[in-house]
Amino acid sequence: MEDRRIAIASDHAGRELKEDIKEFLISSGYELVDMGTDSDERVDYPDYGIPVAEKVSKGEIQKAILICGTGIGMSIVANKFSGVRAALVYDTYTARMAKEHNDANILVIGGRVVGKGLAREMVRVWLESSFQGGRHSRRLDKIREIEDRMGERI
Ligand code: RB5
Repeated sequence: MEDRRIAIASDHAGRELKEDIKEFLISSGYELVDMGTDSDERVDYPDYGIPVAEKVSKGEIQKAILICGTGIGMSIVANKFSGVRAALVYDTYTARMAKEHNDANILVIGGRVVGKGLAREMVRVWLESSFQGGRHSRRLDKIREIEDRMGERI
């Protein structure tokens, strides 16, 4: 059965969008694991991106969404973790490709860059798309080989 759990976290710059995406996903039948932040107080995005990326890296959850102001900081942090394929997307095409070609397990969004309507659409498209496998699997295998060579980074 499909795992309907999705972890989500943001810094202060992504919090408003996080709340909107949560509302959208809960009403679409997903179970959200909200890992903060819970206030508008200024925080450091790694403090929220790291626990989520760790969860995905350990296989404790299959999918996650991270939001900061641009999405750049969260994607840099998340992609440090073995097995994490975090994709920063700005439109529905990249959201679809992130799953079809890259099998992205974390979707990253810039809360100061995209509006709520587009963000909801990107999330929906990412969740409803499927990894195409084939030549794309070969490419992901090459990324896994790098991770194996590097061993446990933390
Ligand atoms: C916070 O001001 C901002 O730097 C952060 O949300 C993010 O955009 C970093 O990449």
